Amino acid sequence: MQQPIIQLRGITKVYRVGVETIHALRGVDLDIMPNEMVAIMGSSGSGKSTLMNTLGCLDRPTAGEYRLGGNLVSGMGADELAHIRNEEIGFVFQSFELLPRQTALENVELPLLYSPTAGGWRARRVRALEALDRVGLSKRVDHRPNQLSGGQKQRVAIARAILNKPRILMADEPTGNLDSATTAEILALFTRLHREGQTILIVTHEDDVAAHCRRVVRLRDGRILSDLPAEQDPEVGRHVESARALQAAVLAEGAAA
Ligand SMILES: Nc1ncnc2c1ncn2[C@@H]1O[C@H](COP(=O)(O)OP(=O)(O)OP(=O)(O)O)[C@@H](O)[C@H]1O
Ligand SMILES: [Mg+2]
Repeated sequence: MQQPIIQLRGITKVYRVGVETIHALRGVDLDIMPNEMVAIMGSSGSGKSTLMNTLGCLDRPTAGEYRLGGNLVSGMGADELAHIRNEEIGFVFQSFELLPRQTALENVELPLLYSPTAGGWRARRVRALEALDRVGLSKRVDHRPNQLSGGQKQRVAIARAILNKPRILMADEPTGNLDSATTAEILALFTRLHREGQTILIVTHEDDVAAHCRRVVRLRDGRILSDLPAEQDPEVGRHVESARALQAAVLAEGAAA
């Protein structure tokens, strides 16, 4: 049987701010299999970003076990965690997080500068150009962020995130700053990467965005409230049919172009 790529057991996260104690995660158990595409939902403050930061090794849980590909991450030291963060996980954020003075190509190459296995500048450039090609931006490699549309900026960020062929692609509100047409375009790109085998987690507030995923995990007060196939989630389920139709249309357009 296939092993989960992510396995969480009893994950808790407690923040202390002055005299206050905040229980951001209160015992989360979660298994994610390779090549799943999962939406993480829940109201503001329910713990979504805390969960993503824990999964992405940006933050350590207060208690509990986190296994990534079978390895116990929750016991690792800072160097090992940094290695996992750079090599195994790709991040995409709502605000793109691109360097304003660097071109699309330079932004994408950035993670390779810190990777000991990335080779010389020529090898790095080839890999960055390949990643930009995968997101359909071959014609914009010399543009700086202010010379790109919102959707193009997010595609640069996605190219940067997939550069090291991470095991997991994590996106925290990746379409939060985009209009609906551009949102559809970015979701089509995620869907294509998913079809190519990528494991993807997307935090979103939008039911119609979550409808592009296969599974919906809802958090409330730091706990898992529900965990259902997208079509069975009461809110998201209503949008699944139109999401799949939209995917088919965008993919057909891409094939024709
Ligand atoms: N660094 C921190 N220090 C202290 N408290 C924090 C910190 N980060 C988050 N929290 C608290 O933990 C809880 C969960 O926050 P989190 O950011 O995970 O929520 P969220 O579900 O991502 O919300 P949103 O939808 O608004 O982004 C909140 O009560 C928040 O105030
Ligand atoms: Mg958040």
